[in-house]
Amino acid sequence: VTRTPLIAGNWKMNLDHLDAIRVVQKLAWTLQDAKHDVRDAEVAVFPPFTDLRSVQSLVAAERFDIAYGGQDVSEHDSGAYTGEISPVFLARLDCRYVLVGHSERRQIHGESDELIGRKAAAALRHGVTPIICIGETAEDLEQHGASAVPVQQIRTILDGLPAGEVVVAYEPVWAIGSGQAATAEQAQEVCAAIRAAIADARGAEAAESTRILYGGSVKSANIAGFMRQPDVDGALVGGASLDAVEFAAISRFT
Ligand code: G3H
Repeated sequence: VTRTPLIAGNWKMNLDHLDAIRVVQKLAWTLQDAKHDVRDAEVAVFPPFTDLRSVQSLVAAERFDIAYGGQDVSEHDSGAYTGEISPVFLARLDCRYVLVGHSERRQIHGESDELIGRKAAAALRHGVTPIICIGETAEDLEQHGASAVPVQQIRTILDGLPAGEVVVAYEPVWAIGSGQAATAEQAQEVCAAIRAAIADARGAEAAESTRILYGGSVKSANIAGFMRQPDVDGALVGGASLDAVEFAAISRFT
């Protein structure tokens, strides 16, 4: 099975709808300028909700080969849920992906694996591929080793989730925004354990075709090491995705 690498840029709460146009435009041009290079990765950006419409208009008008999606989604389709964003709205804006269960949502908003599973199901119902984020804290790492917590998280989230494409992003919480990335070997070990857990839950074929990303202080200087690992199929990039030239360099990891 060949899994198309996915390089995903999570902007978090940065860049307004005008900045978004500038960054996506520059990203597209930089990727196009480099098209003599081998470029086999799919590139996606995750702007704030208020930017999505401008990104969608630009990408559609210019036919840029850049995917985009939301950073979160409601588990509900519509109704009295003030401040929430429906998966239907994301689907109508042609979002290919949506992040669910980012560690900042877990920590700041108390999201549980059960809720994250329901959000993933909501995305799948509307043809949006969920990028399910999991990962251990520094404390989990010390107490249980690297794999135990992310494996338990993915088991709970996949339990009862209908069939359909999902992407998993393994982000050790201690590596996020710290400048201290996991080593490529550490990432490989946990991503292999996650793939085994997916095989248990959804079968060997699904596990083979599911993309697993590494996230946590990824930059152009360390991406190649991660991408050489057999079970790492891409990256979820935070800070380094805000700079179009740096993010383009990450997406040309070869
Ligand atoms: O979603 C992205 C991650 O939280 C990684 O963030 O690349 O700034 O460490 P970072």
